[in-house]
Amino acid sequence: MKRNRQKPDAYLPWVANIIDRVQESPTVFTWRLQFADADIHRRYRFKPGQFNMVYLFGVGEIPISIASDPADEGLYDHTIQVVGRITRAMSRLEPGDQVGIRGPFGQGWPMTQAKGQAVLVITGGLGCAPVTSVINYVLQRRKQFGQLTILQGVKRASDMVYSDRYTAWAEAPNTQVLLAADQGGPQWPWYTGTVVDLLKQVDIDPLRTLVMACGPERMLHAAMHHLIELGLPANRLFLSMERNMQCAVGHCGHCQLGGRFVCQDGPVFEYPRVQDLMAITGY
Ligand SMILES: Cc1cc2nc3c(=O)[nH]c(=O)nc-3n(C[C@H](O)[C@H](O)[C@H](O)COP(=O)(O)OP(=O)(O)OC[C@H]3O[C@@H](n4cnc5c(N)ncnc54)[C@H](O)[C@@H]3O)c2cc1C
Ligand code: FES
Repeated sequence: MKRNRQKPDAYLPWVANIIDRVQESPTVFTWRLQFADADIHRRYRFKPGQFNMVYLFGVGEIPISIASDPADEGLYDHTIQVVGRITRAMSRLEPGDQVGIRGPFGQGWPMTQAKGQAVLVITGGLGCAPVTSVINYVLQRRKQFGQLTILQGVKRASDMVYSDRYTAWAEAPNTQVLLAADQGGPQWPWYTGTVVDLLKQVDIDPLRTLVMACGPERMLHAAMHHLIELGLPANRLFLSMERNMQCAVGHCGHCQLGGRFVCQDGPVFEYPRVQDLMAITGY
């Protein structure tokens, strides 16, 4: 277990400019950010699955996944859902405004292990944001990976974000996209039901597939259970976990998950490392 590996400046945010803003749905928006300092801009590197602490000056700081591809040097995206005080205040910012950024933090997705393998991405709700970087990564290095299957579920059809991206991804080589809404409605062209149901519609080679999943824990637990029944070894299943965070450097204990800190040991975990704790209410 790694602890307290923070750099001396790990608590100091760097200033970043919002250079673009897209309203993805009534409650979800995406910022494109760029560091104000050219030196930081040049040095900043992240891996798919890592997150930043995003600071709205005078309001507060929250963890947000990095949604872009690491090859987009110096420019990166955060997709944010308005759920409370800080995200509501952030939703009012426009291009030209500034935020503070600390990061990147945490352990990302197992992209090296995934090379040569089929990649199955399963997401629910805004769980799609932390996995977008995986999808971008695979599509920009298409020959290094096998089949890419993307399953995304939402409660209501109107909760779906990234519709244009899903359409574009579905047209990429060797890529399958399946979307589901619990409440689809007459205009919903995709499946009505849960994302776990979608698993029954895909061909999975259990020993050549790596699964990367993010979303509500009940959905994750059901999906992992189903995949294990299909014969996938549990060590081929990876989850990105969310917990309230304050420091992001293993000091405050807000993000503890049993003996682990999500900010440093995660947010991406191999399923067997969190499986028992996920089954306990309150963890
Ligand atoms: C590693 C990591 C990556 C994340 N990536 C993203 C992302 O890409 N996009 C995004 O929109 N959000 C992401 N989140 C969640 C985001 O940090 C919270 O939504 C945010 O902290 C809420 O702040 P707030 O002040 O607006 O809401 P608050 O007023 O703090 O809370 C509003 C409600 O959300 C609940 N809540 C707050 N934080 C969390 C949390 N971390 N997990 C579960 N429930 C929470 C509260 O209990 C409350 O019910 C991520 C969280 C983590 C830990
Ligand atoms: S957020 Fe402080 S220990 Fe993880």
